Amino acid sequence: MSAGRGTRGTEPDLATRLVHSEYTPPTGFASLTTPIHRVSTVVFPNVAATRTRSGPDAYTYGLHATPTKLELTTQIAALEGGYRTLLAPSGLAAIAVVDLALLKAGDHVLIPDNVYRPNRELAHRLLDGLGIAAGYYDPMAADAIAGQFQPNTRLLWIEAPGSITMEVPDVPALVAAARARGVVTAIDNTWSAGIYFRAFGKGVDISVQAVTKYMGGHSDLLMGSVTTVNAELFDRVAAVRRLLGLGVGPDDVYLALRGLPTMMVRLKAHEASALQVAGWLRGRPEVKRVLHPAFPECPGHDNWKRDFTGSSGLFSVVLQEKYTAASVDAMVDGLRWFKIGYSWAGPISLALPYRRETLFNANGRDEPGHLVRFSIGLEAPGDLIADLEAGLARLRTA
Ligand SMILES: Cc1ncc(COP(=O)(O)O)c(C=O)c1O
Repeated sequence: MSAGRGTRGTEPDLATRLVHSEYTPPTGFASLTTPIHRVSTVVFPNVAATRTRSGPDAYTYGLHATPTKLELTTQIAALEGGYRTLLAPSGLAAIAVVDLALLKAGDHVLIPDNVYRPNRELAHRLLDGLGIAAGYYDPMAADAIAGQFQPNTRLLWIEAPGSITMEVPDVPALVAAARARGVVTAIDNTWSAGIYFRAFGKGVDISVQAVTKYMGGHSDLLMGSVTTVNAELFDRVAAVRRLLGLGVGPDDVYLALRGLPTMMVRLKAHEASALQVAGWLRGRPEVKRVLHPAFPECPGHDNWKRDFTGSSGLFSVVLQEKYTAASVDAMVDGLRWFKIGYSWAGPISLALPYRRETLFNANGRDEPGHLVRFSIGLEAPGDLIADLEAGLARLRTA
């Protein structure tokens, strides 16, 4: 072994020998899977290299580029059709990085009023204190968006569809209005997994995904991605990730990489089951409305038909108002195959009632009734339907 610079040729003490491994990857060995590089310190060949290596792909420190991470970011950028991707510790962290990169004191951001709630809380509880104002818009009123831009509006958030109330906005119209004002657009593209909605093809500037959902796909991983349309936006977002020291663990990166090859197969299975379960629910008298983008009664269905190539496994129903909140809870509590919990897109189905007052920033668009959101997993749809049938009986009698 090499005993280290300056001491070559002398035998090291056992303690030194135990610390300095002789390992180098064997030549001629190749695996089909990406190795997990578990690393903080990255070794440079000499001091000069510490002064010249830079840029998002440069191997400088484990917090930044590693071969494992670069494989994942390259794959996600290709999947989304964007310029380049960075990783964040969660989908929410990815949203926060975009906000902090694009907004400064005195700026204004527009957020859809049905947005994933922590995105809204970020605006109320963090951006506000930094002197950044937020306005909320009705995602189904793209015609009115032009009137909501202010001279200091810098960012327009889009979520397609809204991840609880499922409205599908007219993304090209929102993007066109933002472009006319020089406002950057960022979309939460998690529902489509980047597969059923091509954000950059529709003119969006930044696509955020909770890798936690369909990319990971097994409810065992938290991660977010930010993909940008160009280098200028990437550099701004990447600088904030770096400055905040936001990293992702190599095992999680590996899990995301392992999820990618099966993502399309899984997504199609989630889609088919969700359509079957939602179609069954639609015929039930206890159900007032099924909020599934592929169904005509879902707000924005025409936008979905025009802009999306499929649907995933997440949808909601509005149950008739005559039932009590307690009977809705009893229905969900007693489900066998649907588990109760946040998040979605895993193999195990989930069900969760939402309190209506939490759904919108301004409650004007709320629909009377009880909203229950379902994430349809990979169980046999017949079992899920039988479970729901028993649940609806509990709803009627509780
Ligand atoms: C639409 C949407 N975006 C983003 C997120 C955030 O993802 P994460 O749980 O990885 O923070 C979620 C999580 O539920 C979500 O539903």
